[in-house]
Amino acid sequence: MSSLSVVILAAGQGKRMRSALPKVLHLLAGKPIAAHVIDVARGLAPRAIALVYGHGGDEVRKRLAADGLAFVLQDPPRGTGDAVRKALPALPARGTTLILLGDVPLVPADALAKLVRRADAGALAVLTARVRRPHGLGRVVRDAKGRVQAIVEERDATAAQKRIDEINTGVMAAPTAKLASWVARLKDDNTQREFYLTDAIAMAVADGVPVEGVMHGDEDDVLGINDRLQLARAERVLQRRRAEALLEAGTWIADPDRFDLRGTLRCGRDVRIDAGCILEGDVKLGDGVTIGAHCVLADVTIGAGTTVAPFSHLESASVGRDCRIGPYARLRPGAELADEVHIGNFVEVKATRMGRGAKANHLAYLGDAEVGANVNYGAGSITANYDGANKHRTVIGDNVHIGSNCVLVAPLTVGAGATVGAGSALSEDVPPGGLTLARPKALTIGDWKRPVKKAKG
Ligand code: UD1
Ligand code: CA
Repeated sequence: MSSLSVVILAAGQGKRMRSALPKVLHLLAGKPIAAHVIDVARGLAPRAIALVYGHGGDEVRKRLAADGLAFVLQDPPRGTGDAVRKALPALPARGTTLILLGDVPLVPADALAKLVRRADAGALAVLTARVRRPHGLGRVVRDAKGRVQAIVEERDATAAQKRIDEINTGVMAAPTAKLASWVARLKDDNTQREFYLTDAIAMAVADGVPVEGVMHGDEDDVLGINDRLQLARAERVLQRRRAEALLEAGTWIADPDRFDLRGTLRCGRDVRIDAGCILEGDVKLGDGVTIGAHCVLADVTIGAGTTVAPFSHLESASVGRDCRIGPYARLRPGAELADEVHIGNFVEVKATRMGRGAKANHLAYLGDAEVGANVNYGAGSITANYDGANKHRTVIGDNVHIGSNCVLVAPLTVGAGATVGAGSALSEDVPPGGLTLARPKALTIGDWKRPVKKAKG
């Protein structure tokens, strides 16, 4: 059994976000910022994880609940040191404690494991990094021999200390018993009147405990998110990495800087994704699938060889092989398309199964319907599936041809092989095989005079 405990600090107000939503619940790649931290913590297989929350309490608990995660309330937030002090009683008294910040979500697991190994050996290990813009961050003060002496917060730093470009990432690990003795002794004698966890470093030095500043090479990994600008930066870092991983795995991503995966994506061979697409939830793309520019796909499965042309929106839908979707198509929840289906521009499909080779190429609506194989569904035709109170089903048999601008008032069945003439409004079942027309006959009034404008004055 691991002797590792993890504390995640997420009780701060996050004022700099200027938002009603607690900072750690803002979404990064479609998932709350702190959920990324919880995931990496769980990957270390610790025996316990405590998340310190405060601001926006109930919502934080609800959104972040996960197996084996204990919540500890810190209200009011009186600093990172106070937060750790509150968390420790919820964790085993022995072993090693790793402290993570709920607003530093991109730290990789191997960097954390390195810190834990140092702490297991008795040291206080702090993850640090050299950064281009250290402003606002705690600076790492080392002595002439390069040994870490203290961490000084920006607000309390001297002019010389502010010039230091090695910063505290906020991630540290220490033997739990020692950590407890340091956080018990913290004082709030600083400009913010908070209990700074970072003051524990100087205490460890005074106690003769080895302090190891483990410098991390990639400053993008240790980005902290305090405001929306930093959130946007972290999003781009994460998305670029996802795009690069996909490119390496053989998926064509037109522009890694214009790619957004907010869930999970599984791709076959030679999948192509053009610029500006947003993929959410669980997305599966078969071999040779092409997704045109600016499509949104959420919880979608697409079979091999299918093309989705630009500006299409697909949500909770499944699409077969060799289909052609879009441009400007909309597949809503419950759209299930068999192979070789064509859905053209401005066609909306909801809770509808379409058989092999069925086509709705222009300006149409299919809702709550069962559409057979090789059906041709004309431009401007709709299923009138809603009577103002209830939804009703439309069943269209195989090889049916529905002309343009038809209204199929559900519940309705159109028998296999039927042809429905353009402009028909149908409210009774259509028998198979024949031609059905439900439109007024044209009427011509031969001696009709077109009105003319009256002369003015
Ligand atoms: C903190 C560090 C700073 C480091 C930086 C890295 C301290 C005092 N400073 O500064 O050295 O360079 O992170 O990003 O530790 N929190 C609580 N309870 C509180 C206060 C904060 O749980 O009372 C949580 C916040 O929700 C946040 C995290 O701790 O997730 C860090 O707090 P924040 O106020 O953002 O600290 P920084 O100013 O970024
Ligand atoms: Ca922060």
